[in-house]
Amino acid sequence: MSAVPSEAALRAWWMPFTHNRHFKAQPRLIVSGQGAYYTLADGRRVFDGLSGLWCSPLGHSPARVVEAVQKQVATLDFAPSFQMGHTAAFTLAERIASLAGRPDDKVFFVNSGSEAVDTALKIAVAYHRARGEASRTRIIGRERGYHGVGMGGISVGGILANRKMFAPLMIPGVDHLPHTWDTSKMGYSRGQPDWGLHLAEDLERIVALHDASTIAAVIVEPMQGSTGVIVPPKGYLQRLREICTKHGILLIFDEVITGFGRLGTPFAADFFGVQPDMTTFAKAVNNATVPLGGVLAASQIYDTFMTGPEHIIEFFHGYTYSAHPLAVAAAHATLDELAAADLINRAATLAPVLEDAIHSLRGEALVTDIRNLGLAAAIDVTPVPGKPALRAYQVFEQALSRGLMLRFTGETLALAPPFISSEDEIRGAVSALRESLQAVSSAG
Ligand SMILES: Cc1ncc(COP(=O)(O)O)c(C=O)c1O
Repeated sequence: MSAVPSEAALRAWWMPFTHNRHFKAQPRLIVSGQGAYYTLADGRRVFDGLSGLWCSPLGHSPARVVEAVQKQVATLDFAPSFQMGHTAAFTLAERIASLAGRPDDKVFFVNSGSEAVDTALKIAVAYHRARGEASRTRIIGRERGYHGVGMGGISVGGILANRKMFAPLMIPGVDHLPHTWDTSKMGYSRGQPDWGLHLAEDLERIVALHDASTIAAVIVEPMQGSTGVIVPPKGYLQRLREICTKHGILLIFDEVITGFGRLGTPFAADFFGVQPDMTTFAKAVNNATVPLGGVLAASQIYDTFMTGPEHIIEFFHGYTYSAHPLAVAAAHATLDELAAADLINRAATLAPVLEDAIHSLRGEALVTDIRNLGLAAAIDVTPVPGKPALRAYQVFEQALSRGLMLRFTGETLALAPPFISSEDEIRGAVSALRESLQAVSSAG
């Protein structure tokens, strides 16, 4: 098959989160991935500065995962998870709960972060109903939050562009906490900002407005990733936890980006020392080799469902591909590799390297803020007057031409390199970003 699609083929794929017409006029095609690098159709090798889409911390096609998936597809390619099961799915659930330090938790498998979020919201509402508090139906999300693109996810999410076209489809009874980013108070913070703890008190205001008896859950990303690495102020998540506990509200951490090591700890919950009632995960759980996600739920939530006659299904929810054998095999191999190569600790070791490198861009042309936590960082750039979101795209293109692939959204550029990166590769990525900023700035 040709490396470059025909005009007709280019038109045929309606691409996700892509400016289709612009892209198809000059397609950027990836033909292979190995380690921390992608190879593009024109032969260029580029450093994968965002671990795919925050999802491939082991780099691409790691031998252990490739071998596990190959073996699995030849042994058991698919197995239904409705009223049947396969052993590796149970042992994976056990491993994930134990990695989270909550060995009694239960894991519900899905196929993506979006499905994980919608599943967690359904569990939250059904849980309260099962325990006799059917009035608890409201969900509190957060401005700028990204929780995928399911109906639940866009409703609790707080990214305007993902919401405004679909307003009539939103789930009712959702409110939002304010986001925690204010550059005038916390600009250029390294790690967690000192300012902003008081913003958690907005949860008390929302509870007072609606009454706790109507609120099922609060869902937040412990660190907001997709909106541009917005790091929670010191003490903020602890305070959300206290308020949720006080009012009997479930706290859900959406760890689709932070789960499996991005902050240098297994989960962000470990990094912040705050335990939620449910955790959503996806992406890095199996290095994104085969779609897989899940919800980790406290055992008392699961137990609440386990009443009634034993021959009746307790939770009417699930997907054909829940715990798909290939995805599960890839996850076991990913967890093996994370442990064997001590990669979560490696992420922790690389975090200060990224922090120092990224903050060295302060004062560089166009840069208006810099943020970082764990092995994730973002910079904001001055918008092109009258053309929102164009500047970051220009920087992205310049970076790609210099052998660095990063992520641009709005006026933000994000870096989240694979855990297998070397210190030099991280510094090199930031140098490429600096040159890209300078090139865009001097082009006017
Ligand atoms: C925090 C968070 N939740 C949910 C999602 C959605 O995941 P998916 O694209 O796998 O549906 C993402 C994706 O980036 C995410 O960052």
